[in-house]
Amino acid sequence: MKKIFVLIGSRQKKGNTAGFAKRITDRLDKEKFEVEYAFPQDFNIAPCMGCSQCFVRTNCVNRDDLNLLHEKILESDLFIIASPVYMHYFTADLKLIIDKSSWWAHTFRLQGKPVVILSTCGTNGFDTVTKPLGEIMSYMGGNVIASANAAMIPDQLDNEEWMEKVSGEIAGRINKYAYIPHESNKYIERTFPYMKASVQLQKEHKENSNLDIEFGEYNYWRDTGMLNYDSFEDYLKEKYKCKEVVV
Ligand SMILES: Cc1cc2nc3c(=O)[nH]c(=O)nc-3n(C[C@H](O)[C@H](O)[C@H](O)COP(=O)(O)O)c2cc1C
Repeated sequence: MKKIFVLIGSRQKKGNTAGFAKRITDRLDKEKFEVEYAFPQDFNIAPCMGCSQCFVRTNCVNRDDLNLLHEKILESDLFIIASPVYMHYFTADLKLIIDKSSWWAHTFRLQGKPVVILSTCGTNGFDTVTKPLGEIMSYMGGNVIASANAAMIPDQLDNEEWMEKVSGEIAGRINKYAYIPHESNKYIERTFPYMKASVQLQKEHKENSNLDIEFGEYNYWRDTGMLNYDSFEDYLKEKYKCKEVVV
């Protein structure tokens, strides 16, 4: 049984975005997939105070539900993240969650997990969510296996033929990627060397300035073993061969 966690950026539990995601997850075999949906109002997420402690502690100082939400994402075998287009971007609810997960973008915290990106829009926001969200997921180490927007105009949301084709294609990819070891892709590979150099500089900075703090992000790279590799692909190959590596 594989776990799929679906985070919807809209508060409309019966809205277009949840409806689009359900068209896809309803096609999956219930014997093979356990699917959980979450909406912003299901979690109490405090505003980001900008203290930057999350980069040091790899954890937020707020005692809110962020850790619970993070656990659900990390425990899943495949993550679906979806949002309506609001003012040519994803919703503020989702932006808050992403902001508060910023350290994940320095540590490839999704560790090659397959990710599906979905959005819905009225008339003009075709890639204004899927594009930035795809980049963010890649920075976080997610392997984006599918990305789709469904618009009201031109009619895609209520267009049975379009919906059947797109949901079938994405469900097919989910069936494949949930059951194979996590993979890297060219977007993650492009970022990996820069991020590695950046955390190594953090470490040097700490040593040169005698700072009495731990750099959580550096520690994460060290403890997972990513620091020992020149590519994320090589790291993942080793990780899924050897179960002792920290997850
Ligand atoms: C505050 C707000 C801003 C919106 N901004 C855009 C926009 O910039 N472009 C667009 O095409 N649609 C926009 N829409 C339309 C929504 O993206 C569309 O109705 C979406 O399918 C709603 O999804 P939901 O039912 O899951 O909440 C906006 C809707 C709202 C409520």
